[in-house]
Amino acid sequence: MRSIRTRILLPIIILIIAATSVILGTTYLTSPPQTQVNETVKGEVALPKPITAGTVSVEEALERRASIRNYTDQPITMQQVSQLLWAAQGITRPSWGGRTAPSAGGTYPLEVYLVVAKNGVEGLTAGVYQYIPQRHEITLTVLGDRVSNLSAAALNQSWVADARINIVIAAVYERTTDRYGERGVQYVHMEAGHAAQNLYLEATALNLGMVSIGAFNDEQVQKVCELPKEQKPLYVIPIGHPRS
Ligand SMILES: Cc1cc2nc3c(=O)[nH]c(=O)nc-3n(C[C@H](O)[C@H](O)[C@H](O)COP(=O)(O)O)c2cc1C
Repeated sequence: MRSIRTRILLPIIILIIAATSVILGTTYLTSPPQTQVNETVKGEVALPKPITAGTVSVEEALERRASIRNYTDQPITMQQVSQLLWAAQGITRPSWGGRTAPSAGGTYPLEVYLVVAKNGVEGLTAGVYQYIPQRHEITLTVLGDRVSNLSAAALNQSWVADARINIVIAAVYERTTDRYGERGVQYVHMEAGHAAQNLYLEATALNLGMVSIGAFNDEQVQKVCELPKEQKPLYVIPIGHPRS
């Protein structure tokens, strides 16, 4: 009796195990593991090391600096992205976190975002990326081309839509006002100016053109870039190869 049951049940069990393996195997082969999808869509992108021995002197960059609003379609390279983000807020004193721009009491209220147009940067998907100074990398926070929406938020200034990239400087005021009270607001604005001027000088040294923009609707920029609610946008900065 037992051997008959075994003879009937065993092949059924083997069949079920085999079928399950085939289904699982096929699923694994046709769709990558979930973590891989997340890395591609929401992953962090390491930036090339910034080059700190450029060929343009500070004096030459100061002399040549100007606001440029006409750009070609030529994409920006990852090395140029690296140089620009490093110039804005890169860490130069790893022992305590000091950066390229000064900060009142080292409170570092600024957050820097890179808005990439379609085909805006070689090897980078269109979207919004947050700069992480501590690791000199960027993290994709919004997938998709947002530049025309950003231009609309900036009172339809066409250079925002034409630029290959826009850098958005935002601030968390509380980081500075918690220590300095209302005067901290002034300090935050001063810091945005320091970071923007660093960008102007670096863009000039890289033969790129840019303009720092203050005329925009705060809420709309915040919405387009999906900034966390405590982060207020202070500057929108289109950057591209100048059209001569
Ligand atoms: C706080 C601030 C806000 C600005 N906002 C805008 C803007 O919304 N749109 C724009 O095209 N330029 C803007 N600019 C750039 C100025 O128009 C520009 O710096 C000025 O015309 C002087 O030219 P230059 O930068 O070539 O020396 C702004 C500049 C600053 C400092």
